[in-house]
Order: sequence, then structure tokens, then C-alpha cells
Amino acid sequence: MSNIIKIFDTTLRDGEQSPGASMNTEEKIQIALQLQKLGVDIIEAGFAAASPGDFDAIARISEMITHSTVCSLARSLEKDIKAAGEAVARAKMRRIHTFIATSQIHMQYKLKMTPDQVIKKAVEAVQYAKTFCDDIEFSCEDAGRSDVSFMKEVLDAVIQAGATTLNIPDTVGYRLPNEMGAIIKSLYEFVGDRAIISVHNHNDLGLAVANSLACIENGARQVECTINGLGERAGNAALEEIVMILKTRKDHFSQFDTNINIKEIYPTSKLVSSITGLEPQPNKAIVGKNAFSHESGIHQDGVLKHTQTYEIMNAKDIGLDKNSIVLGKHSGRHAFKDKLKSLGYDLKDEDINEAFERFKIVADQKKEMFDDDIRALVAEEITKIPQVFELITLQLSDCSPGGVPSAAVTIRHEGIDITDAAIGNGTMDAVFKVIDRVCKVSGELKDYKVDAVTQGKDAMARVLVKVVFDESKPAIMGHGLSVDTMLATAKAYIGALNSYMSMRDGLRNINAKANSI
Ligand code: KIV
Ligand code: ZN
Repeated sequence: MSNIIKIFDTTLRDGEQSPGASMNTEEKIQIALQLQKLGVDIIEAGFAAASPGDFDAIARISEMITHSTVCSLARSLEKDIKAAGEAVARAKMRRIHTFIATSQIHMQYKLKMTPDQVIKKAVEAVQYAKTFCDDIEFSCEDAGRSDVSFMKEVLDAVIQAGATTLNIPDTVGYRLPNEMGAIIKSLYEFVGDRAIISVHNHNDLGLAVANSLACIENGARQVECTINGLGERAGNAALEEIVMILKTRKDHFSQFDTNINIKEIYPTSKLVSSITGLEPQPNKAIVGKNAFSHESGIHQDGVLKHTQTYEIMNAKDIGLDKNSIVLGKHSGRHAFKDKLKSLGYDLKDEDINEAFERFKIVADQKKEMFDDDIRALVAEEITKIPQVFELITLQLSDCSPGGVPSAAVTIRHEGIDITDAAIGNGTMDAVFKVIDRVCKVSGELKDYKVDAVTQGKDAMARVLVKVVFDESKPAIMGHGLSVDTMLATAKAYIGALNSYMSMRDGLRNINAKANSI
């Protein structure tokens, strides 16, 4: 049996189920390209049947990814499997991942099916999926609380139907490492080399990574995980933690390896957090802001004398260079290009030029441009969606106590500049009101978050908004970046509006295409 542990990344599917982590198609494509660079074996790009937008994102990712397998999730339903099969059809390497619950509680209350009906449905699903591609993954949902003997019956049947990977999710994150290890051992001994055993652990009790490692030691050769541990509720097992544990504790896990290029861990984490607006907690292992910083004098002294006194990993190994050169307003295009290269970006000349123009504007207002500032700028550049509305100017007045806060904007739409002004209960309210008026929408702000990208009083503000523009549709996220918080706010709001417009137009195109078939 191979000792390469396949890394199955589900940031774009289970990760997207994190509250507030929804992404637009352009953002998903950028993350998928970065996951490919990171070296993940399988990218679960979404759940094709969930919405036309999800379908479109998976289809576009399938066309662009050449070195990782692209996968879509599907319930054990014909319509889901058909959508999944069609969405990944153009991928060089493609997989359909179908699932049905096998625990008593799910079968009885959710599915209202008998165990025999569940087996029949699972087999039909795999057989049908097989008509679209060879690589089929089957999951026993809520495996952590399923009867192991029953799972053996299900797995035996789906292997015969053609499943090549068998996934054992601890859907509700209930199991302890020794328990998950024992389940996998028993299933691995039963399945042998007829299929690959995969695991998918949720983090409800903070054990997702520990459980994944116990599963690897007991025969699992695929682990499902997400960047920064994003995912439903308390999240999924964190990719960066599993990979770095296998590497750092090579003495213990001597026979196991992954195909992950660990230098891409930090850039991938940063891309995901800047796109989703969900920053890992500062003390998060591997990628948290404090993971490699030493606060106490004793530790600092020790690290200066010998790094390994208090460090078991090297920050540079994961692509985080704390001593890298800081750029500023005098830095030229050449230094900027070199910096992009050292941060792992491989941009087209026109994108570099645009990013450089934006860099110059920000560098004029900000003394030092740290690596994270550059990453934030580039992330904004490469995930830019079509600018149906473009903010040209923003002017604010009177936020003094007792004054009447007002905002004036010029917004470009279809080549025409429209200028207007509005008053509000506060400056931010005035900004939203005037944008609504000019763009003829009425957005409802559901969430607002602001954080500083790096340190210093002149730090760039990164604003994240969640806005509902149509009550029958979910909230849309938008991001804005600027040294001025109100400007970042206006950009974020217009970004959300542009996302809404492009999703609406994208759906119209998909529907028009479907009607013309
Ligand atoms: O947690 C879970 O059970 C899942 C399955 C769909 C694999 O996400
Ligand atoms: Zn899950």
C-alpha cells in the first residue's frame, strides 16, 4: 500500500459552509489555482446541484485545473449526480463524490429509510455516477455514529458498484482519536486494497486533526481537510496542521508523505482569509498571527541565541518570511515585481502593471508596505469581478458632534459618471445611502467588519460587508481595502453590489444557455 497520504481539500465546499464564508466564482477560481500550486491531490470545488452559481464555479474550475483532480459533491440522487457529472466533465482528472447517511439517527429521522433502502440507494448512486467518470468517492455520512458492521455491508456493496474511494466522515465531530482509529482499522482490514479509505473529521470537540492522524495510522490514505480549518460549525480538520505534523514529527510518522509544497501554506492561508474575510484566530497553530512570534523576554533571548530553543518549525518553510524586505513609496516596478515573485505570484504583465499602480497609490499614503499589505492588494486585484459600478470619488463632510453627516460620490456606470450626495445618521449611513441612490438599489447591511491588514497607525483597513440586495437571495459579501476606512467601506459595499450584479447576470446567461439547448 502506498504511504502517500492524498490531500483532499474541501475549502470550496465544506469550507464555504462556514457562516460568512461564501465566495463568488472569480474568488473560487483563484483559490482553486492556489490549491493546485499548493499541491493538493483533489479539490472539492463545490456542490453542483446546490445552485446554478455553484455549478458554474465547478465547471470553470474544471476547465482551468490540470494538476489536481476536480471533484463535485452530490447526494445519492440522480439529479445531483447528473449535475456533478456535467460540472466536472471538462476536468482533466475528475471525480464525483456521492454520499448518504448510514447512522441510525439519520436513517430514521432524516432520510426515513430502512437500512436496506439506504444500501440500494447508495449502490444506484455509485452505478449512475460511474456513467460519468471512473473515479467515484462514496461517503457514509455520520459514519462516526454509524454501526461498523452495517457500514461494512454498505461499503462492500458500493465497491462492487464501482466506488474507488470510501470516505468515513465524523460528521458531527463526536469521536475520540482512539475510537476513530479503531473504526478505520476495522474498515481497512475489511476493505483491503479494494478501495482507498478516506477520512473527513469535523472539529466540534477540537479533535479533527488528532482524529485524522489516528486514522492515517490505522489505514486511511486520504484525508479531507480545509485551509485554516474552515468548515461547517467548528470547522474541518486544518490542512496546514495535518501536513506540518506529518513533516515536523517525521520521527513518528516516518513512512508517510504528502504531495504538498509546504512553502505555499502561508500564501494559501492568506489568500483564503483575505477572500473570505475570516482571519484565523491569532493563536491558531501554523498560520495564526502569533504562531511564530515570541513575546516574553526569555523566549526572545533564547530564539536569538538558537532558533530551536523555542521553535520546532521554521516560518520560512511555510512561506512566511518575517525578515523580508519592506517596500515603500520609492520602490520601483522592478522591486515590486521581485517582491511578487518572492511571494509566489505568477501574474500576467497587465495584472502586474495594475497592481503596481495601486501599490503606488497606497505607498504614497503609507510609510512601509509589508508582505501582507502586498498580498492584500494582489488578492483584491486578482479576485476583482466585473466593475458594473466603479467608485471614482468619495467626499465626506461634517462628522462633528451635532453636525449633519453627508457623503458625495461619483460612480461610473456604463461609461457615464453620476454624481450625487446624501445625508445620513452617521457618515457610514450617508455613504450607503448615496451609493444606493446612484445605483438604484436598496441594500440591507447584514454584517460589517473592519481590521487592520498590518501594524502601524497608517495601516490599511480591510472592510468586509454582507449585504442583501434581494430578499429572496442570500447575503452577498464585499471587500474593500484602503488606508481610509470610509473609502474601504464604500469600496466593499460597491464590491458586494458588483458581485450581486455579476451573479444575477451569470445566472441569466446560464438560464439562457439552458433554454437554448
Ligand atoms: O461532514 C460530512 O459528513 C460531509 C459529507 C458530505 C462528506 O461533509
Ligand atoms: Zn463535512
